[in-house]
Amino acid sequence: MQRDHVYISELGEHVGAEVTLRGWLSQKRSSGKIRFLVLRDGTGFVQCIAFVKNVSPETFEAAGQLSLESSLVVRGTVKADARAKGGYEIDVRELELIGDGGEFPIQPKEHGVEFLFDNRHLYLRSRTPQAVLRIRNEVVQACRDFFYERGFVLIDSPILTPAACEGTTTLFETDYFGQQAFLAQSGQLYLEPACMAFGKVYCFGPTFRAEKSKTRRHLTEFWMIEPEVAFLELAGLLDLAEEFVSYIVARVLDRCAEPLEFLERDTSGLEQIAAPFPRMTYDQAAEILRGEEAQKRMREAGAPPFEYGGDLGALDETILTEGKDLPLAITHWPKEIKSFYMQPAEDDPDKVLGLDLLAPEGYGEIIGGSQRIHDHDLLEQRIREHDLPMEAFQWYLETRRYGTVPHSGFGMGIERVVTWLCGIAHLREAIPYPRQIHRLYP
Ligand code: 4AD
Ligand code: MG
Repeated sequence: MQRDHVYISELGEHVGAEVTLRGWLSQKRSSGKIRFLVLRDGTGFVQCIAFVKNVSPETFEAAGQLSLESSLVVRGTVKADARAKGGYEIDVRELELIGDGGEFPIQPKEHGVEFLFDNRHLYLRSRTPQAVLRIRNEVVQACRDFFYERGFVLIDSPILTPAACEGTTTLFETDYFGQQAFLAQSGQLYLEPACMAFGKVYCFGPTFRAEKSKTRRHLTEFWMIEPEVAFLELAGLLDLAEEFVSYIVARVLDRCAEPLEFLERDTSGLEQIAAPFPRMTYDQAAEILRGEEAQKRMREAGAPPFEYGGDLGALDETILTEGKDLPLAITHWPKEIKSFYMQPAEDDPDKVLGLDLLAPEGYGEIIGGSQRIHDHDLLEQRIREHDLPMEAFQWYLETRRYGTVPHSGFGMGIERVVTWLCGIAHLREAIPYPRQIHRLYP
């Protein structure tokens, strides 16, 4: 890449030399004969100091007039300074204004959340979104590296699909040249046939759920990474999920110290994360949730009491994981509350071999997966019981007709993991442009 400037992250290689920097003005202040300009270029921040004696009178004057978020070319000498943030300062010689910052809507003061997200395209320039989205970048790269290093083949699944994977209540419907189509709720159905070809596969893509609820844990468009492995059963799937999550956490701790620190994330819990994680069955979790202490919490929060056989609510997940450092795996779920494709447990056919992995500290479900039904007739029966249109699933059923084998997989929501690792309150922070029931703009 040819360029005639250096990035702030490279200043260490240029101490004592004159450099050209290009970026945006993120802070400024004046004090008599000195103008302090903090420049941001995406790789970092650096304080540029225009001293009245070292620049032309016009430059000194202009430096005082600049509005925040103006784009600038700065020429000056790199000085190492242990007191400076980042370790360097620029002794400015010349300044060139490229685009005036105008009256930038986001100012260094408190803004409401709605305002910030209405201005997400500009809010991206602020430090908090930058820290969170850098961590997201590392999480995504870690996911890809994890599977690549282990010989998984990337199989991109379609977004326009003829069938539902995760129930019919959250489908986004669209017209496909006169035919009914849905935006993908999961790539799973397409990965299952692919694992019969490649053994170990994964997909990673945008995923759509018409979630009508307004919660801090749901987006209508999110990114899910999904591995699927032939000849893998529930026990092996648990091992894979634990190894995967441990790998991601270690990578983020190793490479994102700066953004984590900016977010004031207490990483002591994250540092404890290593497989194996605690595991329990749904029945064991239900026992805790029906205990006196848990019931009292639910009454205090005005939440309905946990009912055996039902799905876990946000508070239930919190009760099971708060104060814990390690994620918690819950298996053997009642079949009524899980998807049609899950393999029944051998010793208890009312339970299915599903897996939910709950993040610690009350961050909720980060992984959902299962062993899949590999018997053709049983799967056909389950599709019928779930009232799903058989024609749309013929191709999926066929996988079970030709050399079927036990297989398993899971899906992990990237934003759920990023929210947890960043220690932030809401999933909308964890994606560049959130889509929620009341948000399609910008
Ligand atoms: O548990 P889910 O619904 O599982 C599936 O979709 C399976 N077909 C995956 C598979 O086995 N291949 O979703 C998986 C994960 C959840 O654990 C959560 O992390 C995330 O996807 N997720 C959401 N994230 C943000 N907003 C939503 N509305 C989400 N719904 C699920
Ligand atoms: Mg789930």
